[in-house]
Amino acid sequence: GITRHYKFNIVTRDITRLCSSKPILTVNGRFPGPTLSAREGDNVLVKVVNHVKYNVTIHWHGIRQLRTGWADGPAYIAQCPIQPGQSYVYNFTLTGQRGTLWYHAHILWLRATVHGAIVIKPKLNVPYPFPKPYKEVVVVLAEWWKADTEAVINQAMQTGGAPNVSDAHTINGHPGPLSTCASSSLDGFKLQVQKGKTYLLRIVNAALNEDLFFKIAGHKLIVVEVDAVYTKPFATDTVVITPGQTTNVLLTADKSTGRYLVTASPFMDTMVVEVDNRTATATLHYENSLTTSAITTVSIPPRNATPVATAFADSIRSLNSRSFPADVPRGAIDHSLLFTIGIGINPCATCVNGSRVVGAINNVSFVMPTTSLLEAHFFKKKGVFTLDFPGKPLVEFNYTGSGPANLQTMTGTRLYRLAYNSTVQLVLQDTGIIAPESHPIHLHGYNFFVVGKGLGNYNPKTSPLKFNLVDPIERNTIAVPSGGWAAIRFRADNPGVWFMHCHFEVHTTWGLKMAFVVDNGKGPNESLLPPPADLPKC
Ligand code: C2O
Repeated sequence: GITRHYKFNIVTRDITRLCSSKPILTVNGRFPGPTLSAREGDNVLVKVVNHVKYNVTIHWHGIRQLRTGWADGPAYIAQCPIQPGQSYVYNFTLTGQRGTLWYHAHILWLRATVHGAIVIKPKLNVPYPFPKPYKEVVVVLAEWWKADTEAVINQAMQTGGAPNVSDAHTINGHPGPLSTCASSSLDGFKLQVQKGKTYLLRIVNAALNEDLFFKIAGHKLIVVEVDAVYTKPFATDTVVITPGQTTNVLLTADKSTGRYLVTASPFMDTMVVEVDNRTATATLHYENSLTTSAITTVSIPPRNATPVATAFADSIRSLNSRSFPADVPRGAIDHSLLFTIGIGINPCATCVNGSRVVGAINNVSFVMPTTSLLEAHFFKKKGVFTLDFPGKPLVEFNYTGSGPANLQTMTGTRLYRLAYNSTVQLVLQDTGIIAPESHPIHLHGYNFFVVGKGLGNYNPKTSPLKFNLVDPIERNTIAVPSGGWAAIRFRADNPGVWFMHCHFEVHTTWGLKMAFVVDNGKGPNESLLPPPADLPKC
């Protein structure tokens, strides 16, 4: 590979959406940010310069960062933030990965507008495992708030309740031609296509808090990759994508003319949050079609269309069968963990409501430290974290589908320690503390295999009998079924401190997060590298 240099200036810029203008944080003045393009094997250096009043970090979501945890980005986990006026060079190598990933700010709620796609092409002369597309198009889905997003979450934390939902969803930065303030059917993102050609769409869900359905009127989509891992191709009308996930689809322009609606609409399988029916729109436009031609519309799945999401998730299989995890016999897993995930309510003396919503894993609501966990680990600094994160729930639970269950939460900066190269099976169980809800759980530093999922309580005796050890998909963010469980496996071959959290930003803020410490191995290339000289200080 070669070395590629990027410069990301974090700058404020006034942007007008939904008939009003507000200053937002951007990468190089763009919303969404510029696409970072490279090839598998390349070394990437991104100099991030902070020109705004907030502390900033950038996370390269899904990039494995083998031994380079210093470049991973989550604030106070992997680094101290880049302070106003300062800069930091993220230096990492794209090892064994090709496909679509993305980057985003990883502090406060700044990722609302500070995000963009990462496109990793295969090594030179290595073809895709599908016919070469005529063109490739990045499609970033996100949300737009009329209010300042920091004000939105700060206000929610003061009252103890849930924050306001966004005012619109966006496709490549725009709410689209059917949004309230659109001036014409030409507004928003336009995907221009030529009859008969095939396009590769690289779809990213950068929304803060919403799973999304993505559709294109009159056209099938062939899924070929998720989270930068090739899938067995399958056709679908609807792509279902959680915050954090990426999905590549092939789109063949098999009509001859006309304009077709593109939609990104919310999927919400819980009734506890405010009803959200806002749909972002864009247009697919055949070349040589009049821009005034009528737009063919599409039927949008109801926002609680769980069967659509389940069918989509069940269709995702890895293109290749790998030796891991099938080569680890049952019973030979080093760490067999069960983590309950959910949202509860704790007393809060300082909150206006007298109580506050909390998120927890195994009854522990994670408390952010004020210095970097990775530094504390590397320099053996005492008193920053404890290594007593529980491997199973602290409080017995029996989730019956109607909640509440397993309400008690305690706080702490607790980490779970893994020996180098140990094998891990982690069952993520939604305990539906307030109400069942699907949580998109993201693990830093790893891809994991999704070996099983189901509804109700995970049963350690019977559930594993149905595991898929043949072609389970490998990914970095998994939607744990609402009122159900997902089982993942990975090998702890990347030493460092690795964050795991719900990718609904509000749930992370509430504490639905934890971190693993992975020890160094004994071999020459089995240790976390030392920190770079320009690593920011707290
Ligand atoms: Cu994309 Cu820790 O996040």
